[in-house]
Amino acid sequence: MEKILVKGGKKLNGEVKISTAKNSVLPIIAACLLCKGTNIIENVPMLEDVFVLCEVLRTLNADVNIDILNERLIINTENVKNIEPPSELVKKMRASFLIMGPMLSRFGKFRITLPGGCNIGTRPIDLHLKGFTFLGVKIDLGHGFVDASANKIIGNTIYLDFPSVGATENIIMASVLADGETIIGNCAAEPEIEDLANFLNAMGAKIIGAGTDTIKIFGVKELKGVVYRPIFDRIEAGTFMVAAAITNSAIKINGINQEHMRPIIAKLSEMGVILNIYGNSVIVDATRKLKPVDIKTMPYPGFPTDMQAQIMSLLSVLPGTSVVTETIFENRFMHAPELKRMGADIKIDGRSAIIRGVNKLTGTEVKATDLRAGAAMILAGLVAEGNTIINDIYHIDRGYVEIEKKLKGLGANIERIME
Ligand code: EPZ
Repeated sequence: MEKILVKGGKKLNGEVKISTAKNSVLPIIAACLLCKGTNIIENVPMLEDVFVLCEVLRTLNADVNIDILNERLIINTENVKNIEPPSELVKKMRASFLIMGPMLSRFGKFRITLPGGCNIGTRPIDLHLKGFTFLGVKIDLGHGFVDASANKIIGNTIYLDFPSVGATENIIMASVLADGETIIGNCAAEPEIEDLANFLNAMGAKIIGAGTDTIKIFGVKELKGVVYRPIFDRIEAGTFMVAAAITNSAIKINGINQEHMRPIIAKLSEMGVILNIYGNSVIVDATRKLKPVDIKTMPYPGFPTDMQAQIMSLLSVLPGTSVVTETIFENRFMHAPELKRMGADIKIDGRSAIIRGVNKLTGTEVKATDLRAGAAMILAGLVAEGNTIINDIYHIDRGYVEIEKKLKGLGANIERIME
């Protein structure tokens, strides 16, 4: 069983390169199904989630070449068939449900297993289905499957009850070849949505407003294959910013988009971290004493839920009290008990966690309960006294390319071990 071993106490220095955003690449891979041609996606992070979604496309008879050497995907969807993907594959990675929109656009009907929940929440898809229904799609939910069909997909006005990232992406992809115009109100404004819209527009779609709370899609006849390079991973970049902060170090991070990092930069600056941006790079100077701040996760441009666990590790060792409120997912504090095993003082009260900074954390055996919680445990290990062993690191490998190698390159005492 692979584990990560961290020996705490080392300062970080040097520079690290951020990979392309997993949460951009996944919807973009799904969107390749919208054209009958070849797309080349460049600078792709070679992650488990990417491999799983590529496998899902292969079960639809897409020709997917994962060019690991050149870090790119060559996806030819000429011969894609309307096949129901294997349930065990869809449940392995719930973002597989993002193929629903493209398959409805392409074939007018599709059947897929209901994606499971996961550790951080039940992860419902009601908003995805509501959007499809508004586009004229008939949805049958039975025995764990979604059966969807439409004679024609007709543009409509949809107002989301919650700015769901996945629902916004799925509805955009179901609308790009529709008859007429679709308006999505109260939609997600995350940078990954804008990246998906840029990819689709490069293929010949007509989408305006991506990155705001209202998106308009004018249906077109067909899309063509393109070469595309998705955006940097703002959550990976934020994770390394916190690595500098928790070890009171100064490092350089290459591969950021300042605009996408605003909520994270704002919070770290409030804590006393100095961040100097130079184009797509930032020098993070966290060598001064930092102070705790309160955090409330919100849809973009609020503080991202995907940074909540990482920032909790940092707050655990800052003198003073802070409150972290998680408004997006109903069960995203599973890293708190693991941090408490290391000596953190955290009290959970419903959607809020009250954190009292302690003088030190002590290394021990902990587990990654989900992707970002795993990253949070590594961050805690960087500053803990002694050794921290992190189990279930497959969660971490879903979203971070060789995180231990990148941290080792910054001087951390960290390695992947087999036990
Ligand atoms: C995306 O998940 C990301 N995943 C998540 O990143 C991220 O945490 C999340 O957006 C929020 O930013 C990918 O992009 C692959 P949502 P998604 O639909 O689309 C509720 C990571 O760590 N909801 O915006 O599933 C839902 O229950 C992962 O990289 C409904 O109620 O997120 C949740 O409470 C974790 N009905 C909230 O909305 C729906 O139909 C946010 O979910 C859909 C969602």
